[in-house]
Amino acid sequence: MIIIVDFGSQTTHLIGRRFRELGSEITIVTPDIAIAEIEKELPSGIVLSGGPASVYQEGAPTIDPKIFSLGIPILAICYGFQLTAHLLGGKVISGRKEYGPATLQITNLSGSAGQITKGLSPKSFVVWMSHGDEVVSLPEGFMIIGSTEHVPFAFVEDVKRSFIGLLFHPEVEHTEYGRHILANFIRICGNPVEEHKLDIDELVANIKEKVGEMFVIGAVSGGVDSTVAGVLAARAIGKQFVPVYVDNGLMREGTEDHVKKIFTSQGHVEPIVIDAVGETLKSLRGIADPEEKRKVIGKLYIDIFEREMEKLLASSKPVKFLLQGTIYSDVIESQGTNLASKIKSHHNVGGLPERMKLQLLEPLRELYKDEVRTLGKTLGLPDEFVWKQPFPGPGFAVRIRGEVTKERLEKEKQADVILMEELEKARVLQSIFISFPVMTGADSVAVKGDGKFFGEVVALRIVESQDVMTATWARLSYDVLQKISSRIVNEVPGISRVVYDISTKPPATMEWE
Ligand code: XMP
Repeated sequence: MIIIVDFGSQTTHLIGRRFRELGSEITIVTPDIAIAEIEKELPSGIVLSGGPASVYQEGAPTIDPKIFSLGIPILAICYGFQLTAHLLGGKVISGRKEYGPATLQITNLSGSAGQITKGLSPKSFVVWMSHGDEVVSLPEGFMIIGSTEHVPFAFVEDVKRSFIGLLFHPEVEHTEYGRHILANFIRICGNPVEEHKLDIDELVANIKEKVGEMFVIGAVSGGVDSTVAGVLAARAIGKQFVPVYVDNGLMREGTEDHVKKIFTSQGHVEPIVIDAVGETLKSLRGIADPEEKRKVIGKLYIDIFEREMEKLLASSKPVKFLLQGTIYSDVIESQGTNLASKIKSHHNVGGLPERMKLQLLEPLRELYKDEVRTLGKTLGLPDEFVWKQPFPGPGFAVRIRGEVTKERLEKEKQADVILMEELEKARVLQSIFISFPVMTGADSVAVKGDGKFFGEVVALRIVESQDVMTATWARLSYDVLQKISSRIVNEVPGISRVVYDISTKPPATMEWE
């Protein structure tokens, strides 16, 4: 097992993923508990991740220097390398900031008998940089393996301490031979390198073994994760899996049909569909506060689900498991980072397992979003499923500022259909992470025919994002924007105008509330 100490880099999870792809087990830990974990687990290797801090900054994360004398191979990336240099007597300065590609020249192929550079035939290749600080003097015992034009100490090693330092990021796709370097590190740790491929048969067999003769209930939403998890479960245990779709009216048009179609055609199980539209709207009456909306929706969802469970138990189906489409980023995020733990806390099915004494079944727990999509494709799910936009648990309720009424929900849905249609026609959907109209709650004046009237302003939120933490607005053509605006104003009753949201995240979030 390899322990990764997370100094807060956006790519820490990616480092973990790369090691898993190469057949290594990994654990990600925070710096404060790192030494204790390392001494307890005795990993075969340690990775010190990058991070946004500067080593001289007050409160910058650090690590017990003891780890450098444990005899465990260490790969330190960016901040991890700067911190090591700082702790062992080298010097770090706020140097030339570099973001993006640089050319690395390998100047010394023989360090540590060439283990870290083994099989690396080109002497120069492109690496990806993302650093503000730079190591300008190395601790004793360190030697240079490679440099870039601006950074002499870009790739270094200390054979005695079994330490390798990289100022560049081997985990990102754009670094040529990054994977190769990571594989060499795994070998230095004494582990085998085995390309890890997604194995559907194995996933299916695991579910079968865990579930046995019991029944599994699953809350399905039509989203990629719950669909892929559900289809896997259906393949594994057939009718012992009971998918439940609660139609609260807050999901995209056509979601119910979508869910029915996928489970009957791919999984050969009929989902239970519960009509909760009236009940949901009633419980949302008079509520304008976003958090209150989330609470009400979440609670109602749990109540409805519980009722369904009781029915199943009464029909003598021993339901022991709750299937969830939890993916690896959810696991990491709920363990601690800021934003994502918040998203988890108001996820629809949160709170269910404890109340119902159910065990969790999470077949996608180890996978990243793109791996889930690949799995979906391999399972034979249609593209429209695999490339579906994420949709928030509380649905359209958080895209309607203020009170959610039947009329405003109708308008929101109509505008959403128009927006999707036009984005599809313009063939831009594939580059968009998430797109939706917002009922802003603001009124403005418009003239339709001869009459002047005040109607609601609709805002369009259309963003591109890779990592969810950051996003930018889609640079759609004016013609496409014009078409969307005209159609919404003309076709959706009571809408006076359409505005385009050009805020980036951060500081603005994707959703409006
Ligand atoms: P933000 O608005 O935080 O959105 O930039 C990032 C991602 O999270 C989704 N999101 C939610 N998902 N319940 C959810 O299940 C929520 O309350 C919620 N709020 C935001 C959002 O749709 C985007 O994919």
